[in-house]
Amino acid sequence: MSRLLLLNGPNMNLLGEREPDLYGVVTLASIEERCARLAGELGHTLECFQSNAEHELIQRVQAAPGGGIGAIVVNPAAFTHSSIALRDALTAVGIPFIEVHLSNVHGREGFRRRSYFSAVAAGVISGLGPIGYELAIRAADALLRGPERN
Ligand code: DQA
Repeated sequence: MSRLLLLNGPNMNLLGEREPDLYGVVTLASIEERCARLAGELGHTLECFQSNAEHELIQRVQAAPGGGIGAIVVNPAAFTHSSIALRDALTAVGIPFIEVHLSNVHGREGFRRRSYFSAVAAGVISGLGPIGYELAIRAADALLRGPERN
C-alpha cells in the first residue's frame, strides 16, 4: 500500500463549466472521487490538491517525501508550458510522476506542444479526458509494484 498524490494546476477548479468543448463537463471533485475510489481498490490512498498558485503547488510537492508519497499524478495545466520551478520541485523530490492532460495538447495551439514536464515524467497521458486520470492512477500502481509484477 502506498500514498499517491493527485495534483491539479490553475483553473482546474473550474472544470465542468470551463470551456466544456475542450475539457468536458465532469467536475474536478468527481475526477478526484473516482481516482480516490480506484486508488483504494488498488490498495492505495490518494491525496488530492489543486491550486491556482505556483508556489502552493511547489510547496505541496516539497512536502510529499515527508508525507510518504510514493507516486504523483499531475496535471500542471497552464504551468505545463511555463513552470520550470514546478518541474524543478518534482525532480528535486525524486518521486516518480505521471503527467496528465484532459485535452490533446499536441493538437492545439503551438505553445501547448512544449511541456517542461514530459521529459522528466515517467509517462504522459494527453487527450483522453477524465479517464486519463484513472489510467494514470493505474500506471502509478504499476510503477510502484515494479517491472516484475507487471
Ligand atoms: C490542460 C492543457 C493545458 O494546455 C491548459 O493550459 C490547461 C489544461 C489539459 O488538461 O488539457 O489548463 O492541462
